[in-house]
Amino acid sequence: MTKVAPSILSADFANLAQEVEKVITAGADYVHIDVMDGTFVPEITLGALIVKAIRPVTDAVFDVHLMVEHPDTQIESFAKAGADIITFHVEAAKHPHRVLQAIKSAGCKAGICLNPGTPLSMVEELLDDLDMIVIMSVNPGYGGQKFIPNSLDKIARLKAMLVKAGSKAEIEVDGGVTVDNCKALAEAGADVLVAGSAVYKAQNITEAIRKLHCVG
Ligand code: DX5
Ligand code: ZN
Repeated sequence: MTKVAPSILSADFANLAQEVEKVITAGADYVHIDVMDGTFVPEITLGALIVKAIRPVTDAVFDVHLMVEHPDTQIESFAKAGADIITFHVEAAKHPHRVLQAIKSAGCKAGICLNPGTPLSMVEELLDDLDMIVIMSVNPGYGGQKFIPNSLDKIARLKAMLVKAGSKAEIEVDGGVTVDNCKALAEAGADVLVAGSAVYKAQNITEAIRKLHCVG
């Protein structure tokens, strides 16, 4: 069964605590928190203070996706705010290996995100240090975009790479995930599906999460 990580980017920010509680009650595995800095991506969303504010709402895993330049400067504050997993973009890090170590030293699980145009070879030398690899299946920056189809093949190639290396890192897919494409993603090797609009804009959130919990 794939894990489901609703992205609060599509939630009602005026009622964030209830919006987080709602998806956990509906069966979500992780809470996906999209951090944007207005530089790596055009919009600005939220920072560690907001993560700290919603931390008491649930014990569920907080999966923090840093879409920021200089991710190394943000690790400590997000870890202290209550992040469980911190992922950052390899395109934004000069020393990704060092950032991974910093995340682990701060007590969190560590992962790297790859933009659609970034090859898998960018993580090949880092597999031993990774708990998660995020395949971006849209260009980061906005919710509600259309899934880029060749991401499916990229997931399958990453899965083969991890199996070959004996890596237990989770493959997370982020962007344009729906109840219609989730089965193909699970079959390609996805372990965690991020879903913003497919969860928060659904008529029945419990039903949407149940469908997204695909069997691979
Ligand atoms: C995109 C974000 C995603 C986004 C996904 O930059 O990283 O997590 O919220 O939204 P949907 O599922 O609507 O594509
Ligand atoms: Zn995200």
